[in-house]
Amino acid sequence: MNTSKKILVTGGAGYIGSHTVVELISAGFEPVIVDNLSASDTTLLEGIEKITGKKPNFHKGDCRDKSFLNQVFKTQGPIQCVMHFAASKAVGESVEKPLEYHQNNLGSLMTVLDAMRENQVTDFIFSSSCTVYGQPDTIPVTESAPFKRAESPYGATKQICERILEDVYPTGFRIVSLRYFNPIGAHPSALMGELPIGIPNNLVPYVTQTAAGVRKKLTVFGNDYNTPDGSCVRDFIHVVDLALVHVKALEYLLRDKHNRLYDVFNVGTGKGVSVLELVNTFIRTTGVKLPFVIGPRRPGDIEKVYADPSRANEALNWQAKYSLEDALKHAWAWEQKIRKAG
Ligand code: NAD
Ligand code: WQD
Repeated sequence: MNTSKKILVTGGAGYIGSHTVVELISAGFEPVIVDNLSASDTTLLEGIEKITGKKPNFHKGDCRDKSFLNQVFKTQGPIQCVMHFAASKAVGESVEKPLEYHQNNLGSLMTVLDAMRENQVTDFIFSSSCTVYGQPDTIPVTESAPFKRAESPYGATKQICERILEDVYPTGFRIVSLRYFNPIGAHPSALMGELPIGIPNNLVPYVTQTAAGVRKKLTVFGNDYNTPDGSCVRDFIHVVDLALVHVKALEYLLRDKHNRLYDVFNVGTGKGVSVLELVNTFIRTTGVKLPFVIGPRRPGDIEKVYADPSRANEALNWQAKYSLEDALKHAWAWEQKIRKAG
């Protein structure tokens, strides 16, 4: 029986992967990080060390490089489970570089699965996204909602990856796909958080950079949607809650004795929050000025989406515990920290 505590975390130098590494360590696991640093640097690895007092077991390399992966599997000894975060994730960039997105996101997934098979590792946790649903017909959205045509090549890669997982699991994999809604926030210690490259596309990094004076003003993309205040509605989930669900999904796989398994869970708070509500909550909880204007709708935006997380609540025994206020306070503390560090 594989009793190894080692968990291979691809993309572990990135935003969600690094927070998961911290929670894995505090739950007694031994993460082995693989990352090519294509969308990150060593900042969050340093954060992991400061928070846990443990030097991360980090291997720089590409998930599409099977001989590199084989070497990691061979030298690290038995691996209990692979958590696969490594992917390119910028929706706008995926429209400019669709081939690169398919190559990286599909190529990485297939090569990792192939290397797992060669090294007799069966358990796999995949970073999926609410983007697979598009604009669902019914909200809150459940896992059984049909996929709509993806709005972007990035979204298409997540739909195709899930299909690949569904196809391969009967050949001897035990797989959990986690469909994250909108991850926000930072570690409460302010030692780790999001590090967007260039001008942020996502709302919260744009908010904190504007509050820090790096950007002149925030534009709220549209106030004429069919929502209570006219702005879009999302399910914003604290990154530490997201990290914790990975530990719960791992425990779920460890409990389950089936030889084959494929399960999908929504990971959200279950609460819809509008863009304007988030902006006002940020101003109220931090007391910081946040210049903003209302602008036109952003093409491709979904009007409203939030999760029905009851499957994850029940089967994984997991519940989001941080509030929106916590997430925004933590994101702001992290922003101030990186501005101070220059
Ligand atoms: P991130 O960019 O911060 O982290 C991804 C990490 O993967 C980076 O450190 C990058 O260097 C690495 N990477 C990329 N391609 C690689 C490759 N071929 N080989 C090795 N390393 C590689 O992104 P994140 O926000 O932490 O996202 C993690 C996962 O969660 C991704 O799969 C993403 O698609 C998914 N996801 C993210 C969000 C979000 O809004 N952040 C929402 C839903 C799903
Ligand atoms: C949230 C809301 C914007 C910036 C994206 C991906 C999705 C998933 C999560 C990976 C929207 C509004 C934003 C700004 C604004 N990622 N906004 N002004 O688009 O819900 O989801 O990240 O899987 O696939 O598409 O997140 O943070 O970009 O936007 O008004 O400057 O904030 O219009 O309504 P989104 P977001």
